[in-house]
Amino acid sequence: MSRDPNITKILMVCLGNICRSPLAEGILKSKLPDTGFLVDSAGTGNYHVGDTPDPRSIKIAKKYGLDITTQRGRQFSVADFDNFDYIYVMDSSNFENVVKLARNANDIAKVHYILNEIYPNQNHSVPDPYTGGIQGFDNTFKMLDEACLNLSQKLLK
Ligand code: 4NP
Repeated sequence: MSRDPNITKILMVCLGNICRSPLAEGILKSKLPDTGFLVDSAGTGNYHVGDTPDPRSIKIAKKYGLDITTQRGRQFSVADFDNFDYIYVMDSSNFENVVKLARNANDIAKVHYILNEIYPNQNHSVPDPYTGGIQGFDNTFKMLDEACLNLSQKLLK
């Protein structure tokens, strides 16, 4: 992973890295230029390492013009604190699981709730759509699209 200080690196984190964070990765990438930014995603769990995103996430992304099919699941690791400038979690359980691996205050300071980009300091969660139907994935997309629009505007300032 590049440590080029001219590149801002953003990591999206959920539990499985097949539903929410692949959408967040695809959405944020679509709102940032290719140069100067690196966007990735990971899961706190290891259930879906190497897997493509959930077919429902792929379908919803496609509905809104995004292709996330080249993404593969990977597990969050301590090295991600060194490799990324900003770590965005989807929910409070992701937050706890990531912070548990932090080595110091600098690591912890990198971890943020993605929905705080819409509702500052409120630590709202993006509900996990995994066990529900396609409508939940559509809602997830819309929430993440709004949050990532605000985030991209902040990053581009
Ligand atoms: P995600 O959803 O965290 O948004 O990717 C999940 C996907 C799979 C599982 C849990 C959550 N799982 O337990 O397999």
